[in-house]
Amino acid sequence: MSKVALVTGGTRGIGEAISKKLHSSNFTVIANYASNDQAANEFSKKNNIEVKKWDVSNYEECKNSIAKILKDHSKIDILVNNAGITRDAPLHKMDLEKWQKVIDVNLNSVFNMTSLVINQMRENQFGRIVHISSVNGQKGQFGQANYAATKAALIGFSKSLALESASKSITSNVLCPGYINTEMVAAIREDILKSIVETIPNKRLGEADEVAEMVNYLVSDKASYINGATLSINGGLWMD
Ligand code: CAA
Repeated sequence: MSKVALVTGGTRGIGEAISKKLHSSNFTVIANYASNDQAANEFSKKNNIEVKKWDVSNYEECKNSIAKILKDHSKIDILVNNAGITRDAPLHKMDLEKWQKVIDVNLNSVFNMTSLVINQMRENQFGRIVHISSVNGQKGQFGQANYAATKAALIGFSKSLALESASKSITSNVLCPGYINTEMVAAIREDILKSIVETIPNKRLGEADEVAEMVNYLVSDKASYINGATLSINGGLWMD
């Protein structure tokens, strides 16, 4: 029976590349998405990957959807907490809505999803949990106090979870991508993005596939001794 992998925000951007990579490694992949039905359905048809729509920031929706997945597939072996949004503004221009929304989607979702899968992983004595953080959670970024706060929080969350779960053969690790060639990064004003790329030692954006490769390794049986780690994929933008 193949291992079952659940990828949040798994139909676009970095999540899309992760879903496809895990599918090509013969995992049964379920790609969660929040809103874009058309993109999700096209993705599903093209890649033969199951998609499921719900809002990961909503605890009840997570609870119902995970119960349904467990009923259909009997287990979830791998969780990739990838879903994330930006609402960039310097703090002096940041309203409560921009703060709250990013905390809900990027951080509260991780509590929702992980707390709802962890007990069956503990019972099965196996689990792989990967949290997609960001270079900006490590170094901070102008205009991202909300986003950086959530991405830094994932590191403490993951390390705590690693301590709690190691005895059950469950690993929890964090990946911190830098600026990756996705819609999220393409939305940055052109001149600002150009100046950011100039500060990247490798002088280019990363590719989603480069992140997916690392996730694919972390969730494999070979990576059982990598636990509580924070791994950077950022072209040298931040060395930590
Ligand atoms: N450092 C210091 N000062 C800066 C600065 C920086 N990095 N960026 C802008 N400023 C200054 C400007 O020079 C300007 O100064 P003056 O008023 O003296 O002219 C002032 O701040 C206002 O700048 P903006 O015109 O840019 O302000 P804005 O309100 O229009 O835009 C912003 C603010 C939306 C945050 C914009 O600066 C921006 O988009 N920054 C990039 C944020 C970013 O990197 N987002 C990443 C999104 S992708 C992602 O998050 C994925 C991932 O994990 C990496």
